Order: sequence, then structure tokens, then C-alpha cells
Amino acid sequence: MYYWFGEHKIEGKEGNQAWVGVHCYSSQNLTDWKDEGIALPVSKDPESPIVEGCIIERPKVIFNAATQKFVMWFHLELKGQGYKAAKTGLAVADKVTGPFKFVKAVNPNAGKWPVNYPEKLKSKIYPENLKSWSEEWIQAVKEGMLLKRDFEKGQMARDMTHYVDDDGKAYHIHASEENLTLHIAELTDDYQDFSGKYIRVLPTGHNEAPSIFKHNGRYYMITSGCTGWAPNSARLLVADSVLGEWEYVKNPCVGEDADLTFHSQSTFVLPVQGKKDAFIFMADRWNPENAIDGRYVWLPVQFDENGLPFLQWLDKWDLRFFK
Ligand code: GAL
Repeated sequence: MYYWFGEHKIEGKEGNQAWVGVHCYSSQNLTDWKDEGIALPVSKDPESPIVEGCIIERPKVIFNAATQKFVMWFHLELKGQGYKAAKTGLAVADKVTGPFKFVKAVNPNAGKWPVNYPEKLKSKIYPENLKSWSEEWIQAVKEGMLLKRDFEKGQMARDMTHYVDDDGKAYHIHASEENLTLHIAELTDDYQDFSGKYIRVLPTGHNEAPSIFKHNGRYYMITSGCTGWAPNSARLLVADSVLGEWEYVKNPCVGEDADLTFHSQSTFVLPVQGKKDAFIFMADRWNPENAIDGRYVWLPVQFDENGLPFLQWLDKWDLRFFK
């Protein structure tokens, strides 16, 4: 059974905030879907971080075999603060469809250095008045100026995904440092906390909307650039392990509208169960003026003669596409 979690949107611009919660659907064939209702409702309590009118985006759920719990993390913005808080929220359930109970919201890895952060940069200090986007500023951000700014209180976490590796270790991947640098952070064995081990990926690369999958022993990540709700060109990254080093490869999209990811933005790459090398690239076609009218783009991931993934528009396809 497949379970699909998503932001419950409502009509109009207001629908860009969370007024209902995280919705869940189930399907055995990825075509016919059953409405499983609201897995995590927003709260009526104004003191709650998930009070109605907050922003809940990109919820993901993983199952922890040791605790038998379903663990949900999601991008959380506190009500009335725009995208300033940049937190990740945790909710836990005994049943996949919920009800999920909200546990906490955090800025991850407070007081921890990334494992791939050079020792010599830890003590480097930057002038406070660097002009945003000046060469000096970009260089300073690349070297971790924003990482250091958030070192004590914890790092920013906006667009996020999970990846569970073959050894059962789970990772929380999020856009950090003002969306300029991705962080890949290991979760604890129960998946309900950050272990403190994490890496920075392509500092100042401006990657968000991350999704990870593994094929032929290599890890692939598809991301987008950062242009808000408007689509841009996707990026394909590759690594030999989840904790890097990650390398930029190319825009994985080919053909018409490849520069706009076919008018969509990555959200997840789903391994099709029971089929080898079968992955579905899932993306959002946002409609910020009428949030409920946001649509989905699903395309099969194809592999070229060098084994590299690529995406091509298809007007129509089904699971028979995968041999
Ligand atoms: C996008 C992001 C979405 C949402 C939007 C708000 O860049 O991928 O999840 O946060 O910005 O403008």
C-alpha cells in the first residue's frame, strides 16, 4: 500500500497557509486513491507552534522498525512570521494514517559543526556590514558566515525531505542558510531527533525542493533553484554516499520546457515497489493565487546510456512504462 501525505490547501491565497493540516491518501496501484483524512490537524490553541494560519509544507513520513512508530517531519513556519522561523516540525503516530501527535519544532543541529566543515574556518570572523550579494558576501556565505550566525540557536530548515538508507539510517535533508546551502543531517536511531552529524552541500548553490533516490549503488538528488512558487530549472546531483560529497551533474530534464522542469518543482522520487530500477519523479505545479488548484506532475525517471537519470515530458504513461 502506498501512502501519500501532503499539505491540505484551501481556496485563494489564504490556502498558502495551513488551516486544516496534513492530509493522507492511500493507494495500491498509484492510480486509484482513497481519502484517509487528516493525519495531522492544525491546532486551535494560539500557543501551539502548529496553530491554524501557520505554514506547514512538504510533510514526509517514515516508519521506524525499532519503535514501531510512524515519524513525520515537515517544514514549519510560525504564524504571522512569514518564512523567518525556518523550523522543522516533528509529529509521531502508531498508525500510518494517524492521528499524528505534534511533538516539537526545532532549528536543527544547534552547537554542532558540519562534519565536512574545514577546521580552519571555525574561528574565522567576517565583517558585519558586508553588502548582500557582493562578492565578499557570497564568499563569506560560502565559507559559512550564516552557518555561524545560526550556530547557537540551530540551523534554518525550509524545504525538506527524508531519505532512509539501506542500513536503516534516516536523513533529514533541508534548505538551510537562507536557502543558499542544503544540509543533510542524520537522524537518531528512533528518527525523532537530530544525531548532530550533518554536512553542507554545495554552499551558495541555492538548492531547494530536494528529493533523493539510489540507483546502481549511487545516490542521486534532484533539486530546484530558489524562485518561490515559480518554476525554474531542476538540478541533478550525485554522490557515493548520503553524507557526500555531492557533485552537481546537470539539469536532468530534456526536451520542451526542460528549463522550467515542465512547469513544476521537485517534491519526491518514489521507488515503485516490486519493480527494479523504477522511480517516479513527483513534482508540484503550484498555484499561489488559488492554492487548492496546485497540480501534480509525475514522470518516470529514465536512464541514459551512461546510467544517468533524465526526465522527459510524456503526455500519457502508466506503470507498464517500467519493464
Ligand atoms: C518555494 C518552496 C515552497 C514554498 C514556496 C513559498 O521555493 O519550494 O515549498 O516554500 O517557496 O514561496
